[in-house]
Amino acid sequence: MARPIVVALLYNDIPLTASAGDDPVDLSPEALGFTPYFDLEDIPAEQEYTNIEHALVDAGYKVASYNVKDRFERLFKFLARRKIDVVFNLVEFFHGRPEQEMNVASFYELLEIPYTGAPPMTLALCQNKPMAKAILRSYDLPTPRSMTVRTMADFKSRHNLHYPVIVKPACEDGSGGIENASIVSTLEDLKARTEYVLSDFKMDALIEEYIEGRELNVAVLGNGPDRRALPISEIEFGGMPEHLYKIVSYQAKWDPMHEAYHKTIPSCPADLPPAITEYAQQLALKATEALGTRDYARVDMRMNKDGELFILEVNPNPNLSEGTGIARSAEAAGFAFKDLLGNIVESALSRDKHKSAGDE
Ligand SMILES: Nc1ncnc2c1ncn2[C@@H]1O[C@H](COP(=O)(O)OP(=O)(O)O)[C@@H](O)[C@H]1O
Ligand SMILES: [Mg+2]
Repeated sequence: MARPIVVALLYNDIPLTASAGDDPVDLSPEALGFTPYFDLEDIPAEQEYTNIEHALVDAGYKVASYNVKDRFERLFKFLARRKIDVVFNLVEFFHGRPEQEMNVASFYELLEIPYTGAPPMTLALCQNKPMAKAILRSYDLPTPRSMTVRTMADFKSRHNLHYPVIVKPACEDGSGGIENASIVSTLEDLKARTEYVLSDFKMDALIEEYIEGRELNVAVLGNGPDRRALPISEIEFGGMPEHLYKIVSYQAKWDPMHEAYHKTIPSCPADLPPAITEYAQQLALKATEALGTRDYARVDMRMNKDGELFILEVNPNPNLSEGTGIARSAEAAGFAFKDLLGNIVESALSRDKHKSAGDE
């Protein structure tokens, strides 16, 4: 009987108290300044990872789950010691910094270990919204008109964007820095919000035309000729209070005490004319190709009242939890959760086979 394929499910999950800062994380009570009520070495894996592990086992793989706990030496030792066929890469940050995500993928590259998902350059580009938009434009793909501001000295009072505009930190995700006040309609408010983003987030500000309308998420699976878009998911804003813009703000996503929370409800498949569905899916395929995502990705778009579509961003490592995001779109396409994960693993493995075939 053939040896089962060994999948290393790698993730990085530690309490926030232990992840802040750039230094290696010391989890001792002396370093933490308090005695944790459980052993931080034995933090149980989040349900998300457990569900993914179980589904991979159901799909027939041998799974070694491993929490790298923000420690490079743990990651290194684990990968060096084990016989691994493929890493299922769920590491999204290191030392609390999302911009380190690409370096974790670089590490798999250097070790020549096959891994699921996007390569370092794609992770880097997609994290930088102005760069990703520049690439989308170079392929003639629609994205809201915008300008990027690095310092207030660069800020141009005369610009040709149409109000309202939305001011976003250029390299955040998870709706960081996106709230009702991000959308502004006067030069004075635009200046104030840009100043706020520059100083509080310590990164460039992306100023984009605000697209009023529906919000669509298009998940993409596979690579090359097998790349395909799944049924579209729509974020519905029914019940959003009148005084709030219909956006997936930080508060809508993360703050249960806020009135926008639970007012962004996904529905899949979205009720859209077939021609628009087809067009959105084509855009998603082209956008993910342009930015070089692999195995799975999710493209966020807005549609204005004239049915025009605009790509907001491409997520090369979207949430894979059961029952959310891509998993919901996959289910609408008839894939069980384990089949979705199996598909991702097979995509990563076949890339490796092609590579070795090419080497010979
Ligand atoms: N140009 C825009 N027009 C309308 N809504 C926007 C625009 N840009 C962002 N948003 C809203 O803000 C949310 C988060 O923005 P996004 O660019 O996707 O950042 P993140 O990486 O944090 O998800 C979007 O899901 C959407 O609701
Ligand atoms: Mg988004």
